[in-house]
Amino acid sequence: EVIVVKHLEPFRLSLEKLKEVSTRLRKDMIRGLGKHTHHRAAVKMLPTFVRATPDGTEKGDFLALDLGGTNFRVLHVRVMEEEQKMVKMDSQLCAIPQEIMLGTGEQLFDHIAACLSEFLDSQNLKGQTLPMGFTFSFPCEQKEIDKSILIRWTKGFNCSGVEGEDVVKLLKEAIHRRGDYDISSVAMVNDTVGTMMSCGYRDQTCEIGMIIGTGTNACYMEEMKNVKRVEGEDGQMCINTEWGGFGDDGSLEDILTEFDKVVDRTSINPGVHTFEKMISGMYLGEIVRLVLMKLTEKKLLFKGEVSEALRTKETFETKFISMIEDGLENAKKILTELGLTWDLVDARVVRLVCETISSRSARLCAAALATIVDRIRANRGLPHLKTTVGVDGTVYKKHPKMQLSMHFLAPDCKIKFLVSEDGSGKGAAMVTAVAQRLALQSRLLEESDGEEDEEEKVRS
Ligand code: GLC
Repeated sequence: EVIVVKHLEPFRLSLEKLKEVSTRLRKDMIRGLGKHTHHRAAVKMLPTFVRATPDGTEKGDFLALDLGGTNFRVLHVRVMEEEQKMVKMDSQLCAIPQEIMLGTGEQLFDHIAACLSEFLDSQNLKGQTLPMGFTFSFPCEQKEIDKSILIRWTKGFNCSGVEGEDVVKLLKEAIHRRGDYDISSVAMVNDTVGTMMSCGYRDQTCEIGMIIGTGTNACYMEEMKNVKRVEGEDGQMCINTEWGGFGDDGSLEDILTEFDKVVDRTSINPGVHTFEKMISGMYLGEIVRLVLMKLTEKKLLFKGEVSEALRTKETFETKFISMIEDGLENAKKILTELGLTWDLVDARVVRLVCETISSRSARLCAAALATIVDRIRANRGLPHLKTTVGVDGTVYKKHPKMQLSMHFLAPDCKIKFLVSEDGSGKGAAMVTAVAQRLALQSRLLEESDGEEDEEEKVRS
């Protein structure tokens, strides 16, 4: 086992190293926000045009669309002010088969439009045009809340003809091709933003959203004066960091292991989303598999015998990691299913490998989150900050260990984690609700300004 530990050494990141990673991310975030530096920045820091979190007075009925993983969902959401809650009235799920994930953009949006049509029919909603939010969990350059250009696909999607295009336009075109219904405006939302906004309705101190699921990413409320790419100095805007791209310029070279490099090389998007590939659910299982292969080749596992399953890419699912961490019995079952001949020592070693990979993921995320939290603190010139992070994603839910590291990495901040309940679904509705509230408030403000002018006139 001592030799095994030696092989796992490159995955163990000291607190010092994590602090270094956090400092690098801080610099990259500044680069991403800069007017002249953002073009080439690995961490994109995308403006979202979401200018406020909920204040609890939002209400109404909304439609929410959600695309980000292997399913597309449509939801009818009701925001109820009296009870301070969001209720999912109904929803429908449509699977996105692999051939569509890798097909043409037209096929993808026709599929989505068909699913939406079916849902509107079943709910008798085709005559109405409810305000709509679309959680689209990929990096997009937003020009406005309803104009959102896909920068690139991530997480296993690769539909042709969508990168560089406005997603709202593609959706509307698909709906027009059908001709059986229409939609009005659509607010475009990243899943991190949806998570922050849905948690923000429950807890109004929530100003960060984080996802550790198939992919990983976070957003937070930044001061407008630092968002150099968008006109205006006042107030705040939510920034989608796209921290998954951290390291794409080589800045994480010193912590990448040989296994990370293989995962990247054999992925459908080599060279892209380096940080995400060390952390998120789409890749963790594969990292473990590669480590197990290496240890077996070195005769440190399974008497040196690899099974056909273990040799095959992506057969070691990420969910196996938390199952194995939960208990040796699970480990034994899974190893048998993978066609391996194991003894007790093997089962223990496999568990150690799983723990090592999942804690590296948690610690890296903690380092990145610490950077954001500390930035918010510094932005406000506060010695201490108390704040809430809305979180979602299966990897987080199964491995909440990152909370431990936060204390060391952001010592001046006290952080509460709030697990979101379907943030990427309901959050899109909340973004739309907040936008409506802000529009109403500014209209009322203009009207009362007008009245004051009248009074002035009368007095003089
Ligand atoms: C990927 C996407 C990002 C999303 C994250 C979590 O990193 O690029 O937009 O937020 O996955 O789903």
